Parts: sequence; structure tokens; C-alpha cells
Amino acid sequence: MTNLTVRVTQRAEEAEGICSFELVSQSGDELPAFSAGAHIDVHVAPGLVRQYSLSNDPSERHRYRIAVLREENSRGGSAGMHEKVQLGDALCISEPRNHFPLVDAPRTILVAGGIGVTPILAMAQTLHAQGLPFEMHYCGRSSNRMAFLVEIGASGFSKQVTLHRDDLPEEKFDARALFAAPSMDAHLYVCGPSGFMDFVLETARDQGWSDNQLHREYFAGVAAALETDGSFEVRLARTGLKCQVPAGKTVVEILAAHGVEVETSCEAGVCGTCLTRVLEGIPDHRDTFLTDAERAANDQFTPCCSRASSPCLVLDL
Ligand code: FES
Repeated sequence: MTNLTVRVTQRAEEAEGICSFELVSQSGDELPAFSAGAHIDVHVAPGLVRQYSLSNDPSERHRYRIAVLREENSRGGSAGMHEKVQLGDALCISEPRNHFPLVDAPRTILVAGGIGVTPILAMAQTLHAQGLPFEMHYCGRSSNRMAFLVEIGASGFSKQVTLHRDDLPEEKFDARALFAAPSMDAHLYVCGPSGFMDFVLETARDQGWSDNQLHREYFAGVAAALETDGSFEVRLARTGLKCQVPAGKTVVEILAAHGVEVETSCEAGVCGTCLTRVLEGIPDHRDTFLTDAERAANDQFTPCCSRASSPCLVLDL
């Protein structure tokens, strides 16, 4: 995948803790095209790569726009973007990739939770431009924590957007009612914190939606999920090294602290660079790289984000 150098031409506080960055090509050329749901890798600092969804209209070729929520327990990515990346700076990014594409459907429901609005907004712009029916639901704590409200309000699709702000009880997000009686040709897309996405998808399944109608953005929840996980042991078969992986740390980080480097790129289970053989134990797969059959075999995992369902994993390292 080719990397690009872009320049930050705009930086804006979109909401409390959320900053957007407009990126244009350093050379002045058009940027590679992207489709709604795509993301880019941003090289925030040496060795620190993070994925951010593109939130602008995918028909635009002169810019990419990302938005970054400052995570309280940032492992460097969101804090680096907020503190270090300034107007006029050059940034190294990947070309856009899309693991969360829209499929043709006569009816589409888009659901965003908080910063998950970024790919969902690009989807709304695409569906609106194509004249396809859709509705968008945007959930957040309060107006001052929700990015792009002014832009959405001024858009041609504002009437298709329903806001669900936690501080306004009359706007309560009633997922059961929303997903009741699904038609078999409708598709649902959700992006937000992992707990939010799980809740939305479980509610939809309970209401009769099938898995091929349900789409989620995977990498969005990785960092948040890590903070709430339990610990487990990792043993290296070749050297005998044993170490404990606590909540909030990845296997890659813990091994690095013990002098064992595992090559990574996306650090979010997307690219497969860190794929490692598992000799014993059961991985808790958090990636989007392996197929269902490969996951079920439990003989390899992505240590940049995946964890363990068993107390110990023995790795072929
Ligand atoms: S570094 Fe990309 S999947 Fe682990």
C-alpha cells in the first residue's frame, strides 16, 4: 500500500474533545478516490499508526477529513493528534481502504454513537447524492459532545437524521422499536464505541435481522475495549519467556517491554502484519483480518489487538 504525504489545511474543534483535521495532497494533486466507510492509516509519530474514518463527502478529491476523539486513556494516538498535529504540518498517511462499505439496498439505516459519526456521515452523503432512501440515527451524550451537528443540520438530508441526546429524555434511542419488523432487504450500519455497537447489533438480531444485513466498523472499538479487559499469561515456546498481559495493554506492547519485537502496521487487527502462530490456548480474536474459519482453528491470532479466552496462550515465538 502506497503512503502519501498530506498537509493539514484546517484544524477545528468540532465538539468537546473532538478535533477535525482537513488533509490535502502535499503536491497539490487530487487525492486517491475513496468510498463511504473508508479509513486511512495516519502515522501519528514514529511507530505509532492509527486508523481514522474519512468523514467528508466521498465525491471530493481535493481533501480528506478525519475527526479524532481525545481518549482519556489514550495510548498515544488520539493525544498525539490533539497535541502535536497543527495547521500546516505534513503527515504521512496510507491510501484509503474500506472494510465497511455500503451495499446496494432499497432501505438503509445508519446508526452512529459519538465519534462513530465519521464514517456514517460519509455514508449519509453518498446515499443522499445517489437519491437512495435512508435514515440516520445519531446518539451522543449532549450537543456539545457531538461533532458535525451544524453541518448535518445544514445538509440536504437533515430531515432524515434523528438525534438521540442522552440529556434530552424525549430523544431516547429506542433500538427495539427502530429495528422491529425488519424487511429482508434492509441493511443496518453502526459505528461507535464497541459496547454501543454490540448493543445495537444484539438488539437488531433479537428483532429478527440476519447477520448479512448487519455491518459494523471494527477498528473503532479496539482501544476502548482494551481498557476494560482482564489479564492473561503469554508464554513463548522458543525462549520460554512468560509474561502477564494486563487490561489496557496489548500482547505486542508487553512483548516489546520484554525485548521481543513483533512487526506491526495498523495495530488494530486490520492488516495481518502481526499474525502469530498459537500453539496452545484459545485466542479471543478482535481482528477483522482472519476469516471465520481461520478464527475457529485457533492456531493463529493478531497480538496487536486480540487477547485470550483461556488463562494462557503459548505462542510460536
Ligand atoms: S498490526 Fe495489523 S493486524 Fe496486527
